[in-house]
Amino acid sequence: MLSFFSKKNKVTDISWLGVDMHSHVLPGIDDGSPDVATSLRFVKSLQELGFEQLICTPHIYKELYPNTKETIFKAKSSLQSEMNKAGIALKLAAGAEYMIDQDFNLEESLCPLDQKHLLIEMSYLSESPGISKTIFEIEIKGYQPVLAHPERYTFYFKDKSRLRRFKEKGCLLQLNLLSVLGYYGREVKQLAELLLKEKMYDFAGTDLHHDKHLSTLTEAVQTGKLYDLIGSYGFKNQEVFGSICV
Ligand SMILES: [Fe+2]
Repeated sequence: MLSFFSKKNKVTDISWLGVDMHSHVLPGIDDGSPDVATSLRFVKSLQELGFEQLICTPHIYKELYPNTKETIFKAKSSLQSEMNKAGIALKLAAGAEYMIDQDFNLEESLCPLDQKHLLIEMSYLSESPGISKTIFEIEIKGYQPVLAHPERYTFYFKDKSRLRRFKEKGCLLQLNLLSVLGYYGREVKQLAELLLKEKMYDFAGTDLHHDKHLSTLTEAVQTGKLYDLIGSYGFKNQEVFGSICV
């Protein structure tokens, strides 16, 4: 009887998260979706999984993806108009994911997730030099930094105190959903579990780039596995970003 009830009560959508605040579904401007047809398929699938709102966050990384506010909003408009034609009612917003390196420039016209939050990332190989100073400067500029997928920076595995220090300084942390599924490997999964246990995360996102991400996520959502793992954590996606595109 127990297994019958637990099966029946499985949560098999992702409406409990509601807003995806990290994704690479805008067409043709980074290593995410290559074209509008793929983008349309991605947004439709994310809507079917139970997302109500999507914040697209293309990379702004001068060496590889030299995006600007203009390139991002142009791509967003083209996707939005195709979504309108296809009758896809998912709410769409655009921000960016900023690589913190020597080219990061706070004087440029920025693309926050909303009015306040700025999504940032580092190399997976080593901590960005001067990251603490950059976090401080972002805050001075009036934004709150959100560090994307800290669990993927496995150089913190041996010294979690750095991540705790960023939190104390006001930097928020965002989990990649795929990390808890072991998609990026055992070490990343372990670090994610530890940060979840310590309640270090504020937000969660798909960081969706391609079909393999989508199929892994879809399977975990539809079997109820993702909800079982992190559904009751209390991510603030809805609370903070739920009303930015009404
Ligand atoms: Fe990303």
